[in-house]
Amino acid sequence: MKVEKICCIGAGYVGGPTMAVIAQKNPGIKVTIVDINAERIAAWNNSDLSKLPVYEPGLAEIVKETRGKNLFFSTEIDKAIDEAEMIFISVNTPTKTYGKGKGQAADLKYIELCSRNIAKVATTDKIVVEKSTLPVRTAEAVKSILDNTGNGINFHILSNPEFLAEGTAIEDLLSPDRVLIGGESQEAIESLASVYSSWVPQDQILRTNLWSSELSKLTANAFLAQRVSSINSISELCEHTEANVDEVAKAIGMDSRIGSKFLKASVGFGGSCFQKDILNLVYIARSYNLNEVADYWEQVIIMNDHQKRRFSDNLIKTLYNTVSGKKISMLGWAFKKDTNDTRESAAIYVADHLLNEQAQVSVYDPKVPKQKVYSDLNYLNTRSEEENENNVTVSETPYESLKNAHAVAIMTEWDEFKDYDWKKIYNEMKKPAFVFDGRNILDKSKMNEIGFEYYSIGQ
Ligand code: UDX
Ligand code: ADP
Repeated sequence: MKVEKICCIGAGYVGGPTMAVIAQKNPGIKVTIVDINAERIAAWNNSDLSKLPVYEPGLAEIVKETRGKNLFFSTEIDKAIDEAEMIFISVNTPTKTYGKGKGQAADLKYIELCSRNIAKVATTDKIVVEKSTLPVRTAEAVKSILDNTGNGINFHILSNPEFLAEGTAIEDLLSPDRVLIGGESQEAIESLASVYSSWVPQDQILRTNLWSSELSKLTANAFLAQRVSSINSISELCEHTEANVDEVAKAIGMDSRIGSKFLKASVGFGGSCFQKDILNLVYIARSYNLNEVADYWEQVIIMNDHQKRRFSDNLIKTLYNTVSGKKISMLGWAFKKDTNDTRESAAIYVADHLLNEQAQVSVYDPKVPKQKVYSDLNYLNTRSEEENENNVTVSETPYESLKNAHAVAIMTEWDEFKDYDWKKIYNEMKKPAFVFDGRNILDKSKMNEIGFEYYSIGQ
């Protein structure tokens, strides 16, 4: 089937950048991204490119080049579905917050709604591509809905998981390690492969069965998260043995069997994928009664929660066992640098813990808007919105946040934090001036020389 029109349902962190690159590399294909969230679509259509809803280096330039030519953002979902030969489902699949599987299983409500919508409006054959990360065998459910509620037309389901990491999304999309396509119909697989082959070499386009493709995505995220939890577990041991975790990471990373990437000890991993996908893996394993498999992967989450908790406990202990009424400046709120995404960010949990201890928290992040900080905290439901308003301030500049602070907690590895005038910051902070570097981005000896009491991870 020749693809001339693509529709992508879901204009989020995955759908937006992925479709922008597909449009750029396939000028002959009309790509329409639709979303139920009208505000989000309006932001994607904003003539001021700094106001796009997703911040990713290089994204605005591609949107500028393609928008209005062959890339469109719209709320007319039915129209876009009906006219496209290929439909990507790129909606969110959060962890369930209710009922069976609460706190572990993926909530497939949005996927199901999309499938029903496609079935309702489609009048010609379609290739339906699962882009969102899904539990194994979701394709079966999608197919069943399409076949049983559709208008008697043919649907081919493909799984095409996205491996991009936020902050480097455009780079990852332009030169992916691999593109994975799982499916039953060879013809449908080749249609999708032809879209990618505009810029991805053939030998990097992997074709598998549907289930291998779905499971590969969960497994990739589980392995990546496991590396972070592994090095974080060693960081705690380092703090008790005078070993330095960055030196250990370098030494083991030079073993080509281990590899050097993803060995940076930190305050804990965040992001919309790692925790959700591992919980999902654990849930699936348990549902087949594979309890050892489930326990094994669950430990990766337990370690990550411990790392976040350990960071705030250490801060409190060092500040003479109380942060009550003390100003703690948190630098960074995003779950990693170069993104405005805050989902599952360690900063949220550290702040929550400090607020429980009655700290006055002041936040500065170069890309996260003020309202997001409050909504992230309110979402936890630990205290009233009013209390969050009263005890948390979000600053426009880092220096405002750091002024008169008792301690600084570095939560995100934004490059600009390294270049701040730390001497000036020291002069304006309460003494002794404490720095808790949750990302090991500053130079310990320089910080000590200025006069700071400097604590990092695993050193
Ligand atoms: C991840 C996967 O990398 C990507 O392939 C998948 O498509 C989605 O999930 P993402 O969550 O966007 O991507 O970012 P990633 O770079 O993987 O970082 C995840 C978290 O781990 C961040 O909080 C990051 O700071 C942390 N991390 C990463 C570390 O603490 N140390 C490391 O060495 C690497
Ligand atoms: P991801 O990181 O997976 O891209 P996001 O939450 O950033 O997740 O984006 C998912 C998008 O999908 C949201 O903008 C949401 O409004 C949209 N969405 C969810 N359900 C539907 C639906 N049934 N129809 C259209 N859009 C939807």
